Amino acid sequence: MTVRVGVLGGSGYTGGELLRLLALHPNVEVTVVTSREYAGKPIHFVHFNLRGFYRGLRFTSLDLDGLGRLVERIDVAFLALPHGVSLNYTPRLLEVGVRVVDLSADFRLRNPEDYKVWYGFEHPYPDLLSKAVYGMPEIHREELRGAKLIASPGCNATASILALLPLVKNTVIDLERIVIDVKVGSSERGSNPAPGSHHPEREGAMRPYEAEGHRHVAEVVQELSLVAGKPVRASMVPHSVSSIRGVLASAHTWLLRDLDDMELLKLYVETYSKEPFVRIVRGLPPGYPDPKYVIGSNFADVSFAVERRVSRVTGFAAIDNLVKGAAGQAIQAFNISMGFDETLGLRIPPLKPV
Ligand SMILES: NC(=O)c1ccc[n+]([C@@H]2O[C@H](COP(=O)([O-])OP(=O)(O)OC[C@H]3O[C@@H](n4cnc5c(N)ncnc54)[C@H](OP(=O)(O)O)[C@@H]3O)[C@@H](O)[C@H]2O)c1
Repeated sequence: MTVRVGVLGGSGYTGGELLRLLALHPNVEVTVVTSREYAGKPIHFVHFNLRGFYRGLRFTSLDLDGLGRLVERIDVAFLALPHGVSLNYTPRLLEVGVRVVDLSADFRLRNPEDYKVWYGFEHPYPDLLSKAVYGMPEIHREELRGAKLIASPGCNATASILALLPLVKNTVIDLERIVIDVKVGSSERGSNPAPGSHHPEREGAMRPYEAEGHRHVAEVVQELSLVAGKPVRASMVPHSVSSIRGVLASAHTWLLRDLDDMELLKLYVETYSKEPFVRIVRGLPPGYPDPKYVIGSNFADVSFAVERRVSRVTGFAAIDNLVKGAAGQAIQAFNISMGFDETLGLRIPPLKPV
């Protein structure tokens, strides 16, 4: 079975990663790739790494009026568009029977009120929020089967949730005191240079941003509360670091009872041993998860550490923001929704050295 796929917003970083991974997906033919700026140009005009792939395919312009002509050529649309843009296209695509995998935040939150609080706008399609499935297989695998609208998680949120999932699921920590420290590379900000992400400003940087309340906290709290079956309180401080790719989440919290390392390890093993893209890092060098060893892949490396003196436990997760934090996870969720083996096109080992 071949699925005809459109990548809307295909000239950006997550669009480029979707194209890189989908190029070898056995059940996918990419038939439409959009960009307003590069309309008419071949794919490798922007994505030099994809030279030799996608011969004959060119960027197509995207606007609401022209959408009708595009949808005839696709069965599934991956939306790699900015927040607030995806939500203009999604209802129209769903209406004509095109499945949507949205990489933006436009359908991640279930409660419409949260959009006012965290994104500063009133969500125009609250009915679709209840239909969207949060695209994290480790939590929503069953709901993803047959899903028509997948809201792919944010990269900081993905790392944070995976770092904490075994601890929250088994309620061994104080669910009201969770502080997540996130380090993230510059590609998280997209391909459009801004003062904070422009290379001369960013190179060598190590600085916190949005430290008073990062938007991804909303989805972390939403998903962990769902897992716990009760409200979870969490806060996050992301830091820009000098690498291009990678997210490391160090989620600090406190144990409710004394658990030794073997008992904690058992919780991580029970949660993740059947997960095809989560690896537990324990004991062997480099000791703790490091994004350096997942770059280019859909793997998340996870672990934990306890400071017994104060009962503090830290859950760690390292991902590539553009793969498990974006394009890879979106394809994994797409595979599940289509009834494919969820690893199709994604069994790629990380690069080393990078
Ligand atoms: N970067 C990450 O690590 C990451 C991780 C997870 C999720 N995400 C989310 O994924 C989405 C894409 O991120 P990105 O980093 O790939 O951004 P990006 O590099 O800036 O790419 C954005 C894409 O959208 C197109 N676009 C921009 N404005 C548009 C508009 N008004 N109408 C139609 N097309 C428009 C752009 O091409 P043209 O301007 O040429 O049309 C480009 O192809 C965002 O919602 C982001 O939050 C990003």
